[in-house]
Amino acid sequence: MQNIFIRKVGRYGIRRATSSDISDVIAINWAALPEHYSDSFFEERLQESPETFLVAEDEQGKIQGYIMCRIEYGFSNMRRYGLARKGHIVSVAVLEEHRGSGIGSVLCEEAISGMKQRGCSEIYLEVRVSNDPAVKLYLKLGFKTVATHRGYYRDGEDAYLMSRQI
Ligand SMILES: CC(C)(COP(=O)(O)OP(=O)(O)OC[C@H]1O[C@@H](n2cnc3c(N)ncnc32)[C@H](O)[C@@H]1OP(=O)(O)O)[C@@H](O)C(=O)NCCC(=O)NCCS
Repeated sequence: MQNIFIRKVGRYGIRRATSSDISDVIAINWAALPEHYSDSFFEERLQESPETFLVAEDEQGKIQGYIMCRIEYGFSNMRRYGLARKGHIVSVAVLEEHRGSGIGSVLCEEAISGMKQRGCSEIYLEVRVSNDPAVKLYLKLGFKTVATHRGYYRDGEDAYLMSRQI
């Protein structure tokens, strides 16, 4: 897989996901996050927007992180009025023992670059208000909290709606 990395971060390579990566991505999703999706949802995101579905692979070719996004068209989160093509970061995760090495940042940066290619003018995501590492990552990447969705998650926790123009 060496020649298809779009970017290197330390000993990890970032590349577009393929269908054969989906089972590893799902395993990471279960290990790292309480929000899960059907297998077909992952497949659909990959087919619809391969530019924004990326994985981080280590030197052994094992996937240690991913980002999955959706391209949407709807009301702007950044402007008071008007419609926008928006990139939605649906899910991003890095396995615990590989965190803090810059993988999460680079996955987001490269997915954002894919969103630009797809003509998005803004990006948004939802994040648990208690998820400090993720909130800090998004603030570092230039996101702003534009709203709080009360009781957004199944267990009742609130979500910050964070957004950024691109
Ligand atoms: C959020 C997550 C993807 C970050 O991945 P990562 O590879 O560790 O991120 P990076 O190494 O690129 O760190 C980027 C920034 O995030 C913040 N951050 C990362 N880990 C942090 C921690 N434990 N505490 C506080 N801030 C942290 C920092 O601002 C860091 O930048 P810095 O290194 O310049 O200080 C990872 O913690 C994760 O998978 N968490 C579980 C899944 C999850 O919560 N996903 C987000 C759902 S919205």
